[in-house]
Amino acid sequence: MGIQWRDSLAIGVEAIDNQHKELLLRFDGLLNACEEGRGKDEMKRLLSFLEEYVQTHFRDEEALQRLHRFPGYKEHCVQHADFEARIKALRSEIDAEGISMHHVIQTNNLLLKWLLNHISKVDKELGAYIKPGSP
Ligand SMILES: [Fe+2]
Repeated sequence: MGIQWRDSLAIGVEAIDNQHKELLLRFDGLLNACEEGRGKDEMKRLLSFLEEYVQTHFRDEEALQRLHRFPGYKEHCVQHADFEARIKALRSEIDAEGISMHHVIQTNNLLLKWLLNHISKVDKELGAYIKPGSP
């Protein structure tokens, strides 16, 4: 069973929702690759994607929060910084030791927690603040 976008995840800002959809697609890609025994290969691609993604997506989301003077801005940025630090740590470990299955499992867990605790909750709060009444 994979990970799929559902409309209840939408925050109502199209650019951000599209970036979240992209992340979920990539996450689903990793799960599928694991099922097919290609987890480590996909992990390489996913890590490069995530390094780029944290720069563009987090900066876009944070700019949106500043624009709307979102009251939860600081705590939100802390969560982004924490995720970013985890990606950097993964990169250093993988560069030093090569990719092993525990990196793949670690990344699966990281993305699942991110989906459940950040996108589904914290980003939704942002959406509700910007667009009250959106899904
Ligand atoms: Fe966020």
